[in-house]
Amino acid sequence: MDLPGVSAGPRVQRAADAAAIARAAAEEVARRAAAAAALRGGAALALAGGSTPKALYRLLADAAAPFRARVPWPAVHVFFGDERAVPPESSDANARMAREALLSHVPVGAVHRIEGERGAAEAAVRYEDELFQHFGDVPLPVFDVVLLGLGADGHTASLFPGSPALEERRRWVVPAPAGLAPWVDRVTLTLPVLEAARFVLFLVAGADKANALRRLVRPRAGEEPIPAAMLRPRGEVLVLADEAAAGDLEAE
Ligand code: 6PG
Repeated sequence: MDLPGVSAGPRVQRAADAAAIARAAAEEVARRAAAAAALRGGAALALAGGSTPKALYRLLADAAAPFRARVPWPAVHVFFGDERAVPPESSDANARMAREALLSHVPVGAVHRIEGERGAAEAAVRYEDELFQHFGDVPLPVFDVVLLGLGADGHTASLFPGSPALEERRRWVVPAPAGLAPWVDRVTLTLPVLEAARFVLFLVAGADKANALRRLVRPRAGEEPIPAAMLRPRGEVLVLADEAAAGDLEAE
C-alpha cells in the first residue's frame, strides 16, 4: 500500500515486517532482472551491504520460493554499492554476506567485487575500472537495479553525513571514511552513479530507522538533508519500509 499524501520524496511501500520486505523486494528484483535481460540481454544489479538485505538474498537463493526460477541468473552481473576495506572472507565484508546468502547458491553470470583487501583508495580505482570495462565509455554506468539500505543517521551505501564523498560528482567510485562501526575505511559508488540507475530500491526495517525514513520521504524545510535524501534519481525509486520504520509517517 502506498502512503497517501507522501509526495515530496520517493514512493513508499509498507510491509508488515522484515520478512515481508524481503518478499516484496524479491518480487521487484526478479521482475526487473528478467525485463532487463529480455530487453538488453543482461541485467546489472548492485547489492547493498548491512544486515537488512540478507533475508532478501536468502529468499532469492531459495529453490522452494518462487523467485529464484524467475531470475535469468547467467545474464545477471552482480556489483556492490559499497564495501568495507577488509578481505572478502572477513565477517565485516559485504561480499561475504552476499556470497553466503546468495551468490554461492545461484549460477550468476559474473560477480564484480570491490577488492577491500587492497585498501580503500586502490580498491576504489580498481572497481571504477571494473565498471568502465563492463559499461564501456559512457558518461555514467546505468544499473538496472540498485539496492540500498538506510542508516539511522541517514547514510546510504557508504555515504555518511558530512562525508567528502557526498560532494563527488565526477568519479564513479570513491574511498570514504566510516561513519560508524566497523571503523574501517569504505569504498562507495558516488551519488551520480546511484542517481543514474533505472531503479533504486531502499530496504528499511526497524524502529531505529523511523526518523531517517521520515527525513528521506518527508524532508522538512530548513532541515539539513540526510545523505539518502541528497539522491536525485533519474529513474524510479521505491522505498520498502516495515511498520516499525514507517509507522508514524502518516501522522506527520
Ligand atoms: C554497509 C551498507 C550500509 C547499510 C546501512 C543499513 O555496508 O553497511 O551498505 O549503507 O545498507 O548501514 O544497514 P542495515 O541494513 O544493517 O541497517
